[in-house]
Amino acid sequence: GKYRVVSTKPMPGTRWINLLVEQDCRVEICTQKKTILSIEDIIALIGDKCDGVIGQLTEEWGDALFSALSRAGGKAFSNMAVGYNNVNVDAATKHGVAVGNTPGVLTETTAELAASLSLAAARRIVEADEFMRAGLYDGWLPNLFVGNLLKGQTVGVIGAGRIGSAYARMMVEGFKMNLIYYDLYQATRLEKFITGYAEFLRANGEQPVTWKRAASMEEVLREADVISLHPILDKTTFHLINKESLATMKKEAILVNCSRGPVIDEVALVEHLKHNPMFRVGLDVFEDEPYMKPGLADQKNAIVVPHIASASKWTREGMATLAALNVLGKIKGYPIWSDPNRVEPFLKEDASPPA
Ligand code: GLV
Ligand code: GLV
Repeated sequence: GKYRVVSTKPMPGTRWINLLVEQDCRVEICTQKKTILSIEDIIALIGDKCDGVIGQLTEEWGDALFSALSRAGGKAFSNMAVGYNNVNVDAATKHGVAVGNTPGVLTETTAELAASLSLAAARRIVEADEFMRAGLYDGWLPNLFVGNLLKGQTVGVIGAGRIGSAYARMMVEGFKMNLIYYDLYQATRLEKFITGYAEFLRANGEQPVTWKRAASMEEVLREADVISLHPILDKTTFHLINKESLATMKKEAILVNCSRGPVIDEVALVEHLKHNPMFRVGLDVFEDEPYMKPGLADQKNAIVVPHIASASKWTREGMATLAALNVLGKIKGYPIWSDPNRVEPFLKEDASPPA
């Protein structure tokens, strides 16, 4: 192969490798056993000649790595993730390296996990499973693990991009919930979908669902029974959910996070969970991954899973393929397939919603 492409982790499937090899690339996959590579590990991996790198969200792609990649003749870096808060795009640009991410293929898979966590929290599935396995079930009782009925309740979505909109559709259509969402952009297609669905329900003599675009995030926090977070992480969304915003939410609300951990002030969340036993949370991401803040693991009203929202076979193979195409395209002289510079900002002060 004429070009050398490095992947910092083994990735699922073979399609991504074949695509690169067929196009004159040598693919080198890091086989180090440790889960999180250091900057030094990655610099060593880049070596003297490297045309492009596929990296992971656990790696800090900043000045040090992009200057090493640029010195090795590298032109392209792709995150194997839609989120790119681990990538300093300005540093990449400064060193002449194009950056890609992998949106689209993980939309439904991620939304399905957010829906799973919503249901698991509403019906207390994890607590009930633990109870069963502990041999504590000694007969049916009217009061055993009573949870929330979602039908007719309000689902709140913070960040109605691809994933947030897909989740909203699932909850509205699947469980006949009403929607309230907050985003700088109007989710036009989502609104149209729900309007059509409401008409269908009305025509069938059922209570129609409703939707509302909130004027502020606080409005969503106040009114929703289930709230799912789908913003990108940047300085405008860091600790978006804090002591104050938690206090705004209903005492029996459910909060779901499949975006990025630092969107929630996790210490404040642990306090809130301790003092509000009917408040429940479903978390896929954590502020200091792979760690949880002290006390979180002891809370029965918290469901925690290890950042698996995009973990379906189809999606993970698709993410690997997109990441490979991003790097390959750039090496071959095309613009990067998915450029996060073109991703619409969420909650950035300078964001001006399109007319
Ligand atoms: C996973 O967290 C991703 O951003 O793709
Ligand atoms: C990310 O895929 C988003 O929700 O826009």
